[in-house]
Amino acid sequence: MSHRGAPTLQVQRLSHAYGAAPVLREVSFDVAPGEVVAVIGSSGAGKTTLFRSITGLVAPSGGRALVGGRDLATLGGRELARARRQVGLIFQQYNLVRRLSAADNVVIGRLVHLPTWRAVLRRPGADERARAVACLDRVGMAAHARARADTLSGGQQQRVAIARVLAQRSSLLLADEPVASLDPASAASVLATLRAVASDHGIAVVCSLHQVELVGGFADRVVGLGQGRVTLDVPVADFGDDHRAAVYGARLEPSLVQERCP
Ligand SMILES: Nc1ncnc2c1ncn2[C@@H]1O[C@H](COP(=O)(O)OP(=O)(O)OP(=O)(O)O)[C@@H](O)[C@H]1O
Ligand SMILES: [Mg+2]
Repeated sequence: MSHRGAPTLQVQRLSHAYGAAPVLREVSFDVAPGEVVAVIGSSGAGKTTLFRSITGLVAPSGGRALVGGRDLATLGGRELARARRQVGLIFQQYNLVRRLSAADNVVIGRLVHLPTWRAVLRRPGADERARAVACLDRVGMAAHARARADTLSGGQQQRVAIARVLAQRSSLLLADEPVASLDPASAASVLATLRAVASDHGIAVVCSLHQVELVGGFADRVVGLGQGRVTLDVPVADFGDDHRAAVYGARLEPSLVQERCP
């Protein structure tokens, strides 16, 4: 990877509380261009809140998150809109407009770069359409460009969502459990696609997931969250069973659950 430079994302002692309940406690980590960071942690650890804080959807109670050196929480108006475009978001599901084709969903990502009058008319030119299909091709979905989004499989929809982020030319991609609803083969394919767009386009990727066994194949680093704190930040090559146990704590094996809950 030749993209490494100033960090695309700098999370600096970021804290957040819902009411009196602290959810993020001085979370700090950086993500370089082209780097993929997997965020793991038990349910309720604060992963989704972390993503919401980075995008400025919730205001931090302390610390800050810088995207390309800029703190979205301090921006307003056009500057905020421009900075938000730097951040592509992918969720577990419902990423696409169901009634639109794959290509039109990608064009929506491109529209943020059009002059306002064209964006309002929503009539992308041939060049916009060609660019959308090129982005779909990049994620192996060119053959489905005309298919309605709701006729695609979950894994295919997630790959279209990644193509939309490419079309948007974001420098940071935040993916909150993008493979939680997918079968293992589709999950692997979506994570491989994330890996490829990070490496090839220098996009910094932060991806939360519960399937810890999948981190080895796609992430550079693993950040563990526990009760809102960073409990782990290691290169993926160093990530082992001890780390895993530390992040998730002692858990009942499925076989034990069956024995105990006949
Ligand atoms: N809008 C909200 N109002 C109040 N509390 C919230 C809100 N959203 C989340 N919380 C609380 O904040 C904590 C962290 O939630 P969060 O959704 O960030 O966890 P998570 O790591 O994404 O969990 P999961 O793996 O289940 O998605 C939880 O205790 C949750 O109940
Ligand atoms: Mg969550």
